[in-house]
Amino acid sequence: MHAKQLRVGVVGATGAVGREMLKTLEQREFPATSVRALASSRSAGQEIPFKGGQLIVEELDENSFQELDLALFSAGGGTSEKYAPIAVRSGCVVVDNSSAWRMDPEVPLVVPEVNPDDLAKHKGIIANPNCSTIQMVVVLKPLHDAGRIKRVVVSTYQAVSGTGQKAIKEMETQVRQMFNMQEPEAEVYPYQIAFNCLPHIDVFLDNDYTKEEMKMVLETQKIMGDETIRLTATTVRVPVFFGHSESVNVETEKKITPAEARVILAQAPGVQVLDNPKEKIYPMPIHAAGEDLTFVGRIREDESIANGLNLWVVADNLRKGAALNAVQIAEVLVERDLVRV
Ligand code: A2P
Repeated sequence: MHAKQLRVGVVGATGAVGREMLKTLEQREFPATSVRALASSRSAGQEIPFKGGQLIVEELDENSFQELDLALFSAGGGTSEKYAPIAVRSGCVVVDNSSAWRMDPEVPLVVPEVNPDDLAKHKGIIANPNCSTIQMVVVLKPLHDAGRIKRVVVSTYQAVSGTGQKAIKEMETQVRQMFNMQEPEAEVYPYQIAFNCLPHIDVFLDNDYTKEEMKMVLETQKIMGDETIRLTATTVRVPVFFGHSESVNVETEKKITPAEARVILAQAPGVQVLDNPKEKIYPMPIHAAGEDLTFVGRIREDESIANGLNLWVVADNLRKGAALNAVQIAEVLVERDLVRV
């Protein structure tokens, strides 16, 4: 597929990630001849600003893909399950941000800084990993290459925008309600999220982990191409609008000192080290929001074991955690002439 003929669709264009996908396509001057915005009948006819003009949102249906070469999906797992195979049958390559296809052995799960070569095997659908996994693996990969990671213990502090537009609105409303001495109303989350933390993201599974926690375990092994990496996660929703933070404890086979880790990570693609405790320099969501890089700081030795490091990793969950990673995948597909089913 020559870049000049690339007709692109964004499915879920009115959502938190979909809007960011359009913004990212525009900012990175993605080589598309046309871009279409698709969503449900609820928002058909709405206008979304794009490249100085407006895109009119179209209702998604079975015929939407006939005139498309590439579709970026972020409209939930059910929509992806139903429409991604239809898109592929119409000759359209899908980059899917939902969890529907991520663990399918036929579907590459890709972070371009980590495993771009997996894209060559695609059969029409490429999965974009979970937001928390993406920002963690861009930091883990160079450490794994340097010292082989044996085990990771991660706790996340995840922004409400990861749940979508409704959750952003819910937290805004709750803050206003509480300042007005009203009872906060919770619909998206099971409890109030304003001024609270919820150790509960996605559904609980039989092993008492949440699905979000198990996504981090399984997706990390798949992206890193190493099922021997042991990982355990606790994922927590916090009252932050944009930007996920993670406390990551890493045990390696070969010792990596904090000084060595700083050098390794300073050279890692897509990563910026922000680590000067004396000057109070460390990554925070207020600085990561709107940025493309993954920031890492608080790099220090885990003094309780022989070969351990503690890290603090922050990124914009809508950008590197979702829209940017999907667009980067699309860019590699174009560069490698892989936009074909
Ligand atoms: P709509 O705005 O028409 O409901 P978020 O993650 O921010 O909640 O956004 C979800 C996105 O997925 C929105 O663009 C939403 O469109 C879209 N979406 C949800 N369900 C469907 C569906 N059945 N068909 C097409 N788009 C859908």
